[in-house]
Amino acid sequence: MSEVVHTPRVFSGIQPSGNLTLGNYLGALKRFAQAQDNGISSIYCMVDLHAITVWQDPAKLANATRELCAGFIASGLDPARSILFNQSQVPEHTQMAWVFNCVARMGWMQRMTQFKDKAGKNAQNASLGLFAYPALMAADILTYHATHVPVGEDQKQHIELTRDIAIKFNNDYGVDFFPVTAPVIEGAATRVMSLRDGSKKMSKSDPSDMSRINLTDDADTIAKKIRKAKTDPEPLPEDIDGLEARPEARNLVNIYAALSDQSVAQVMAEMGGKPFSEFKPLLADLAVDKIAPISTEMSRLMQDPAEIDRILANGAERARAIAAPILKETYKIVGMVGA
Ligand code: AMP
Ligand code: TRP
Repeated sequence: MSEVVHTPRVFSGIQPSGNLTLGNYLGALKRFAQAQDNGISSIYCMVDLHAITVWQDPAKLANATRELCAGFIASGLDPARSILFNQSQVPEHTQMAWVFNCVARMGWMQRMTQFKDKAGKNAQNASLGLFAYPALMAADILTYHATHVPVGEDQKQHIELTRDIAIKFNNDYGVDFFPVTAPVIEGAATRVMSLRDGSKKMSKSDPSDMSRINLTDDADTIAKKIRKAKTDPEPLPEDIDGLEARPEARNLVNIYAALSDQSVAQVMAEMGGKPFSEFKPLLADLAVDKIAPISTEMSRLMQDPAEIDRILANGAERARAIAAPILKETYKIVGMVGA
């Protein structure tokens, strides 16, 4: 059989489950905008169906979906050049997910660390949707034959599962239909850590608001959170190696590097040896400079929710034009009459 060559296509998703953080921005949104500027066809999804795998208040979910869309646009995504839409408006995702539920194995799903983390001690009480979450994510990606998926480090295992599903489907049905998708995890900030604990990921769902910078924080709040970020008493080390055993210092240097588009080595050449009393104000100024305008633009966009709804509906229509024929072909391969 001849190898099908898939044209490059970028797909990624973010859950509308509350505050967008600096982690989302540096690990995802900022890099999406860079891909778009490199002229790669890109599709970005507000994954509302993933969000409800844990309880979401309906009114808050709708607002969070619009705010996420505003976050994409404020971070530089152009809804005319990239496709921006919410998952539930394109039913092909869930239709494809069912097929993948039948391809993926229980054992594969049981190994997913995100499920184990989110389900906690009481896994019996987790929703079935939370368990099946990665199969829906594989459907998000493969229903567009996406070849590249930019994500933060925490999503690596899910992308590997997506590859396993594509390979098993192709093998089981004797086709070369789905691409084997590559994760794109690069840059200094693929894993931005909590400002209160350098061993924990910065997360929307952390109970402490001081642990994260939200894209909706104003300049004073951003500066205060950086000033109060946990550090050790030593000054910054002279070089990168010295960051090894100092997670909080390393995190702040990584954030500085990512925000200023420099490598960690470049930042250390400039900042090495400085006490935090000098480094933190520089970082605070940089963060305010880069993040506060996003926050301002998001609140401007949120004043016209009807316009955001139009953008999402238009994105969904364009997404569907790509997804529908790929789903149809999948159904044909599987043997569904009428496909
Ligand atoms: P989520 O908010 O879990 O839907 O994540 C959306 C995107 O942001 C994914 O690509 C994540 O990998 C990325 N992301 C979330 N938190 C972080 C973080 N602390 N550091 C880097 N990337 C992150
Ligand atoms: N699981 C991802 C997260 O929590 C969100 C997501 C859903 C996603 N579908 C996707 C990311 C498809 C990339 C591609 O961050």
